[in-house]
Amino acid sequence: MKLAITGPTSGIGAITFKELVPVCQEVFFLARNAEKAQIEIEKLPEKERKKVSFIHLDLADLDSVKKAAADIQAKTDQIDVLINNAGGIFPKYEVTKDGFELSFSANHLGHFLLTNLLAPLLLQSENPKVINVSSEAHRAAKVNFDDLNYKQQSYSSFNAYANVKLFNILFTKSLIDHYGSKGLRSYALHPGVVKTNFGKEANGIFKLFWKLATPFMIDANQGARTSIYLAKTQMPDSHNGYYFKKSKPNVPSKEARSKNYRDKLWEASMEMVKPWMG
Ligand SMILES: NC(=O)c1ccc[n+]([C@@H]2O[C@H](COP(=O)([O-])OP(=O)(O)OC[C@H]3O[C@@H](n4cnc5c(N)ncnc54)[C@H](OP(=O)(O)O)[C@@H]3O)[C@@H](O)[C@H]2O)c1
Repeated sequence: MKLAITGPTSGIGAITFKELVPVCQEVFFLARNAEKAQIEIEKLPEKERKKVSFIHLDLADLDSVKKAAADIQAKTDQIDVLINNAGGIFPKYEVTKDGFELSFSANHLGHFLLTNLLAPLLLQSENPKVINVSSEAHRAAKVNFDDLNYKQQSYSSFNAYANVKLFNILFTKSLIDHYGSKGLRSYALHPGVVKTNFGKEANGIFKLFWKLATPFMIDANQGARTSIYLAKTQMPDSHNGYYFKKSKPNVPSKEARSKNYRDKLWEASMEMVKPWMG
């Protein structure tokens, strides 16, 4: 298996990476922090380390996303599994240098561009898969499609996070609409409520909720299980595009199942990333 994974420097991604390397032929470690990357890669036994290439990727910088895809393309002509795992909740309203709201760019738009740019490599595989790490938080989403970048409405970090986690599920289904007939499989998942670096920078009511929830959280080893299961398992065709929890299909919200929503998101996202697609 040739794997590309985002967010492997911490939490769920670090465990997913570590557990999958032994079953992989080649791994692309996509991260924005080279020092953290080196630490994780050096934890591997030497024979496993040789399989791993660090690729610089900042999902909140679309030039970096485009370069990361080109760097991978220069090293391989095929990817079997892409795990879009990186993400987080961002306490303050910030605009990226490309003019997009930070949470929207880091959690959705960066992965949207990366996946579309890597699609030709994925489609070289006999059994290509894209796995998107979403969340049960998607059920709290309230999306204003006319203001995806919070230019008019006031910014709430939790609302922005719930929305992007809904987008992860909509994107999963859209990938089937656009590439399914060419063989692509795509899955979304909720990892559980997991003790990681996630939420450490949150503020307001979410910070309090997260602190209170800490004693009940699972660890990253358990949190990575569904990602690892989906990467390793040959899934039936009937489960293509599904949302998973505890390695089992689960019914996401009504909005997550809306074709109208996913078409709107695809169209708006494609328009935004157009300058980086060529
Ligand atoms: N923890 C939970 O309870 C929970 C629940 C549901 C869903 N999730 C989802 O699980 C995924 C992994 O989160 P986690 O809990 O493992 O959190 P984490 O420990 O904070 O890890 C987040 C990862 O995302 C990377 N990342 C963040 N912004 C990035 C950017 N702009 N460009 C590139 N990489 C970036 C981080 O890189 P750095 O190391 O450089 O910061 C880190 O590797 C996320 O998508 C999250 O939404 C988590």
